[in-house]
Amino acid sequence: MRAIDLTGKRGVIFGVANQRSIAWAISEALAAAGAELAFTYLNERLKESVEKTVAPLGAPRLLECDATDDAQVASVYDNLKASWGSLDFVIHSVAYAEKDDLGGAFSATTRQGFRVALEASAYSLIPVVRHAAPLMTAGGSIVTMTFEASERVFPGYNVMGTAKAALENEVRQLANEFGPSNIRVNAISAGPLATLAARSIPGFNDMRHAFAERAPLRRNITHAEVGGAALFLCSDLSTGITGAVLPVDAGYSIMGI
Ligand SMILES: NC(=O)c1ccc[n+]([C@@H]2O[C@H](COP(=O)([O-])OP(=O)(O)OC[C@H]3O[C@@H](n4cnc5c(N)ncnc54)[C@H](O)[C@@H]3O)[C@@H](O)[C@H]2O)c1
Repeated sequence: MRAIDLTGKRGVIFGVANQRSIAWAISEALAAAGAELAFTYLNERLKESVEKTVAPLGAPRLLECDATDDAQVASVYDNLKASWGSLDFVIHSVAYAEKDDLGGAFSATTRQGFRVALEASAYSLIPVVRHAAPLMTAGGSIVTMTFEASERVFPGYNVMGTAKAALENEVRQLANEFGPSNIRVNAISAGPLATLAARSIPGFNDMRHAFAERAPLRRNITHAEVGGAALFLCSDLSTGITGAVLPVDAGYSIMGI
């Protein structure tokens, strides 16, 4: 028997780009527990990479979705409603900022850069949850990905820190709104992991070194550890948890100096 059994459960994953994506590590954990998964891909340019990444799961449903386009988000759920009827969980592992708005002076953040980062990385959770809720007829679990720069300064992370602060606030407001329908909304605050998105953050390697040196566990986290935490949050082992930001950071965030 599996430690956590999600046989018969169905969920959609927003945010796989390639094999290094956190969303893929989460998908592997969910699939190993027996869940059936559907995936979205951002655009045609990424389609092939996502297809290749998810191929080990057979040929799961793949749907195009730019999460900044409400009509595309709605269409993902229309499609899932038609094929599955209901939904048990959603993984939102999506973020984007313009290159010029990562690194350099935070005060140089442009109005446009702020809008782009907040829209893709924070606002996108709202329609993703709003359209999922009617399909979660037996309750559900929604998990998004955040980073500690929501609360503390990580030079270079800049406007993405602002976006993560907004995202975590949304998690609490959405958890309150959908709690009466037994839909839980939580975030995982992960330590630095080498991914496509992480590569665009100046000083990312220094961040990894700082975590390994100062975190209580004296190492960086692994992709699989985030997968395990997400699996827990999508399972019945976490039915009492909502509105939480769960650190998976080798303990880094508890340290003063
Ligand atoms: N890598 C880290 O160190 C780290 C740490 C903490 C939190 N996170 C968060 O984890 C999440 C996943 O990032 P990752 O590190 O796996 O990188 P990644 O590049 O593999 O994933 C980011 C995903 O966001 C998608 N995306 C961007 N704009 C989108 C849009 N408008 N609509 C739909 N999808 C869009 C991309 O296609 C990609 O699949 C992000 O929210 C990121 O901020 C990452």
